[in-house]
Amino acid sequence: MIRELLQQRAGEDYDLYGRTINPQFMKVLRTIGFDRIWARAEGQYLYDSDGNRYLDFLGGFGMFNVGRNNPRVRAALVEALELETPGSVQLGVSLLPGLLGEELLRRTPPRLAHVLFTNSGTEANEAALKLGRAATGRSRVLSESGAFHGLTLGSLSASGDPHFTARFGPLLPGFEHVPRGDLDALEAQLRREDVAMFLVEPVQGHGVHLPPDGYFAAAQDLCRRYGTLFAVDEVQTGLGRTGKLFAFEHWGLDPDVVTVAKSLSGGYVPVGALLMSTRVYDGVFDSLEHSVSHGSTFAPNDLAMAAGLATLRELDETQLVQHTVDVGEYLLDQTRPFVERHEVVRDVRGLGLLWAMEFAQPEGGSLAWRVMERVQEGLFAQLVVVPLFTKHRILTQVAGYSTAVLKAIPPLVVTRSDVDEFVTALDDVIRKATRPARVAGLALRAARAR
Ligand SMILES: Cc1ncc(COP(=O)(O)O)c(C=O)c1O
Repeated sequence: MIRELLQQRAGEDYDLYGRTINPQFMKVLRTIGFDRIWARAEGQYLYDSDGNRYLDFLGGFGMFNVGRNNPRVRAALVEALELETPGSVQLGVSLLPGLLGEELLRRTPPRLAHVLFTNSGTEANEAALKLGRAATGRSRVLSESGAFHGLTLGSLSASGDPHFTARFGPLLPGFEHVPRGDLDALEAQLRREDVAMFLVEPVQGHGVHLPPDGYFAAAQDLCRRYGTLFAVDEVQTGLGRTGKLFAFEHWGLDPDVVTVAKSLSGGYVPVGALLMSTRVYDGVFDSLEHSVSHGSTFAPNDLAMAAGLATLRELDETQLVQHTVDVGEYLLDQTRPFVERHEVVRDVRGLGLLWAMEFAQPEGGSLAWRVMERVQEGLFAQLVVVPLFTKHRILTQVAGYSTAVLKAIPPLVVTRSDVDEFVTALDDVIRKATRPARVAGLALRAARAR
């Protein structure tokens, strides 16, 4: 049935999506020339209907760590379907959730003793916020300016980027943001001893900002001193992305709460999970009456669990986390010299395969920069993202609103030769991006699309 539908309606992708789902988004994709008809995907590659291969350095916003259509995860899903497993009995449980829970806890510090499954990253964070409040009997929540934790109201209240929160207020009461790295500001808030949770994003995805040295360990100590739960959002950084299974391992942290999602199912099935300490679990699920204090109809479901088990096994057996360290270092080595080579490149940074290049106005201000920034702040990065895609067939993104930062978050299966392809293309694009004719063209298109 699906095969027939796809054949009968081939090519209608954008018209139909525009008619039934989101016409504005279709307008954006058409304006920037991203409206390809996608035929298939494999590993780190996407293929369009003309058979052209694209290098996917966006990775579905970081959900395809083990590669698109990973054969092991696919096989596990087919197997689970064929077995007709009795999942989601609701008043009863099946084996797969416990197995995935066990595998997750086996890979994390002993403080994390219980798992609660959700269907997405934002839901995992919502659960963290709710459970954190109940477990501590406190209502205030601290998070960091510039952080992103998801788009539902609780997670949004914890997100520190006004581009996402504007128009959707009022947000939840009791939420406040502290500047990343400012331990004095953090302690001033914690000292009141009414903060349930301090939620951090190890590497901030928007802008790709790494933490200052020693900051997280000190923040965790402060949280312990004042009875606040230390929570780490690993939705984007987890499952090998930064060159450790979880990013908090880079700094030897021992969080009370960890959230994961995205790549946990290999990108196949919606899934999320909250890992929590006994203190949190016992503080919430403290009686028979409270045994199901938080949950969701579809979580956990057997397909997500099967995919999660296969994903963890894939990470182990292919040693993908170590591969991420190697290729991530290679990517940084190959791109750091761009700071010297190109006037517009201010910084190159990253951890594992979470990578960014920041652009800045060159001395005196190039024409390109001035024209683009007049149309829209941060638009210069689009001047790189668009030709990387349309000319070199490489998919990347700008790292958030109004930031002149190019971000790459590819499937972890990318190779050194993929990196070489990216680096050569990037060099070409940056050189041309500063040419006046190219700038004028894109500035016009961008202005028209607004
Ligand atoms: C750090 C972080 N937290 C939470 C989320 C939200 O996850 P989801 O899109 O699955 O709701 C994201 C998504 O990009 C994220 O990067």
